Amino acid sequence: MFYDKLDEFPKDFLWGAASAAYQVEGAFDTDGKGPSIWDSFSKIPGKTFIGTNGDVAVDHYHRYKEDVALMAEMGLKAYRFSVAWSRVVPDGEGPVNPAGLQFYIDLVDELIQHGVEPVLTLYHWDLPQALQDKYGGWESRELIPAFKEYCRILFEALGDKVKYWVTFNEQNVFTAMGYRWESHPPNVSDLKRMYQANHVINLANAAAIQLFHDLVPQGKIGPSFGYGPTYALNARPENILAAVNSHEANNRWWMDVYCKGTYPKFMYKQLSRLGIAPEVTAADHDLLTSAKPDFLGINYYHGGTVRENRIENTSETDVVKKEFSAIDPYLMQPKEEQAQSPEVPMFEAVSNPHLKTTDWGWEIDPVGFRVALREVYAEYDLPIFVTENGLGAIDVLEEDGSIQDDGRIEYLKAHILEVQKAMTDGVEMIGYCAWSFTDLLSWLNGYKKRYGFVYVNRDEASEKDLARIPKKSFYWYQDLIATNGANLNQ
Ligand code: BG6
Repeated sequence: MFYDKLDEFPKDFLWGAASAAYQVEGAFDTDGKGPSIWDSFSKIPGKTFIGTNGDVAVDHYHRYKEDVALMAEMGLKAYRFSVAWSRVVPDGEGPVNPAGLQFYIDLVDELIQHGVEPVLTLYHWDLPQALQDKYGGWESRELIPAFKEYCRILFEALGDKVKYWVTFNEQNVFTAMGYRWESHPPNVSDLKRMYQANHVINLANAAAIQLFHDLVPQGKIGPSFGYGPTYALNARPENILAAVNSHEANNRWWMDVYCKGTYPKFMYKQLSRLGIAPEVTAADHDLLTSAKPDFLGINYYHGGTVRENRIENTSETDVVKKEFSAIDPYLMQPKEEQAQSPEVPMFEAVSNPHLKTTDWGWEIDPVGFRVALREVYAEYDLPIFVTENGLGAIDVLEEDGSIQDDGRIEYLKAHILEVQKAMTDGVEMIGYCAWSFTDLLSWLNGYKKRYGFVYVNRDEASEKDLARIPKKSFYWYQDLIATNGANLNQ
């Protein structure tokens, strides 16, 4: 759709930025915090970029006041952060650690005092190690009551102050990385176990939403999903079918469960054929269908392009095949040796000849953002909160002390413009959180790949002085917020 004039952003649109506990806080064993699975995994040689870990990260735990002051200076309307479960409940299900809980109460108070709406994520990948050791982590149903109890603690402590809550961050990504690709904890490669863990997380998600609706009726809660539209390489019907398959495997497999409480049928049958479908009991079905999110958090970086599965495809062997040097969390194209992979007979991922990529090979596709927002809103009919979107790049601290991140400004501008178009189309939007506010630890790329509006003076070799230095994009976003998006077309 083309418009001469786009709708204005609503006056209460939440212009935000996001982070996650393990990536910013540091203080990994301070004030009674227990270890998480990331504290252990990041110490395994060869697992992270030159051995980086979140022991110190960007020391947000000790510098949150300075960070919040910068948010206020920027005029930020919302800050999305996550709570480290093992800071609040060191053993995952034992007694509360008052100092850990107090940190989040103080952070929320600081945000509110500075006019920044807190958006709290309950789980951004850092499971308490004790629950991994005791029960085997998310594969066990024992984690459902443990998660629910942890949620109860936070709902009771912060339910009157925090309106927006996110249950799980990118369930599709952390289950694939953790249980298929051995690149996140618990370092497993087993599809059956992946689908089992994923099912338990679905149940935990539903249980948390149910409890929230009982305890915090005035609040809003939903998951944040790593969504990417799937394109067919061209109009060849076989490729269109492949895109339908890919959409079901990579998006609907989660989104349907969140919003309708049921798994999509074709993918479920495909997994059953391979003996790796999760078992859904009648009680599971009741729980999943009884809990509905109030909004959908969408994390958007890119989508993917597919063609007919490689078993049947005979006509398009010349198209450049996507090189999977890194793992692509959105299109979980299997490694050759994983003969059991459910996707092999369904579709094959290829690179999109129309799109450029970032330094890390991620396709840059602002229009895909609009497609994503449109698809999600049309299918699930819930307001959307963009909980992540941003550019990972190498930023240079110039001799004059500035960081000229024009590439990031260009990226964000193009993407936010598509949000405005989607909104003009009719999508109900709550807000937009860029990833990220300050630079932070990239799970697998250390401090080389930066996302922040605020540069943090540290690298893999040294913590230096951890000074906060606003980048050029900081001032650009400040202006965008001040004009409520009116500067987007300039
Ligand atoms: C999202 C995660 O998948 O992508 C963030 O929710 C993460 O935690 C972000 O940092 C960027 O990923 P990466 O690998 O580029 O740091």
